[in-house]
Amino acid sequence: MKKIIISLKKEKYPVYLDCHLSKLGYLIKQHNCGGKVLVVTDENAGKLFSQIVVNSLKAAGNKVKVLTVKPGESSKTFNVAYNLLKECSLYRMERTDVIVALGGGVICDLAGFVSSIYLRGIRFVSIPTTLLAQVDASIGGKTAINLPWGKNLVGAFHQPFFVVMDFSTLETLPDREISQGMAEVIKSAVIRSKKLFNYLIKIDASETRKHLKYFVPECVLIKKRVVETDEKEEKGIREILNFGHTIGHAIEINSKKLNHGESVSVGMVGETFLAFKKGICSYSTFEKVKSLVEKYCLPTKSGITAEAAAKSMLFDKKTKDGRYRFVLPVRIGAVKTGIEITPEEIISNWEKWQ
Ligand code: GLY
Repeated sequence: MKKIIISLKKEKYPVYLDCHLSKLGYLIKQHNCGGKVLVVTDENAGKLFSQIVVNSLKAAGNKVKVLTVKPGESSKTFNVAYNLLKECSLYRMERTDVIVALGGGVICDLAGFVSSIYLRGIRFVSIPTTLLAQVDASIGGKTAINLPWGKNLVGAFHQPFFVVMDFSTLETLPDREISQGMAEVIKSAVIRSKKLFNYLIKIDASETRKHLKYFVPECVLIKKRVVETDEKEEKGIREILNFGHTIGHAIEINSKKLNHGESVSVGMVGETFLAFKKGICSYSTFEKVKSLVEKYCLPTKSGITAEAAAKSMLFDKKTKDGRYRFVLPVRIGAVKTGIEITPEEIISNWEKWQ
C-alpha cells in the first residue's frame, strides 16, 4: 500500500492507494478516531462494498450504522442532506465520531458536505469507489450539494481525515462509468501533464482498465500540487481544475442523458475551440483534445441549445459581475485562467464544435 500526503496550510492527510477496504478499521484506529461511525453510501456501492467496510469497522471496535441513498446527482439535494443530518443527530453522533463516504463523486460531495456542517464539522473519511471520484472528487476537500438550476452551488471546504482507494473497486464499474472517469483523467492531462496526455494517446483504449493503476496516482499527484498551492481557490490556481466544467456544468444541469464526465468532455472540446477562436491555442491543440475525447468513447455533442447553456453559465461560480470567466488551454499541459467570454461568443460558436 502506497500513500500520498496532501499537505495544506493547517492540516495534512494521507491518501492510501491500492489499499484493501478491509483495512479501514485498522486505519481508523491508527488515526486515533472512530467510536460511532456512520457509513453513507448509495445502492450501487453499498450492495458491493458496505458489508466488508462494516465488518472491518466492527472488528476494530466501532459502532456502525449504514445509510444508503439513491445513486446519482438527484441525491445531492437539501432534502437528502437534511435526512442524513437528522440521522446523525438521532444516532447521537459527537464531534469525535466519523462519517465515512463510500461511493462515487456524489457520495463524496454529499457526505463530505453533511460532515462539514453537522456540529459545525465532524471528521470524515473518504472511500471513493469510482474512477471519477478517485482521480478528482475525493481529493481537495470540496464538498457540495446542488440547487435545481446549478451544480455545487451550496457547499464548504472540508478536508477528509484520510482517503482510502481500493483499486479493485474499479473492476466492478461498467464501461460508461470508466469512460466518465477518463474525462477527468484527460482534464488533468490537458491542464498540467503533457506526459500523461501522450500516454493517453499511445495506449490502446480497449485496454484502458489495465492502466488505471497508473492514471489514479498520476492524477492524485497533479491534484495534490494544485490544491497545495491554492487550497481554497483564492489565487487563481485551483481554478484550472475547472477546465471543461464551465460549459460542462451548464450541459449537465440541462441534460437528461449526459453524466458529469460526458458533459465535461463536451465542455473540454468546446472550451478548447473557444481558446482557438480567441487565439489562445492552435487549431492542432483543439484537434488533439477532440480526438482524445473521441478515443475514450466520450461525446463532443450535447443536444443542449446554446441559449439554455449560456443562461445556466451565469450561475457558474467563476462568473464575476455577470461575465463568464473561463479556463482555457494555451497548449497541452498548460492553461490560462480568468478569460472573459461573452454570451454572444458562446452562442455563435456553439454549433461549430458540436
Ligand atoms: N473538482 C475541482 C476541484 O476540486 O477544485
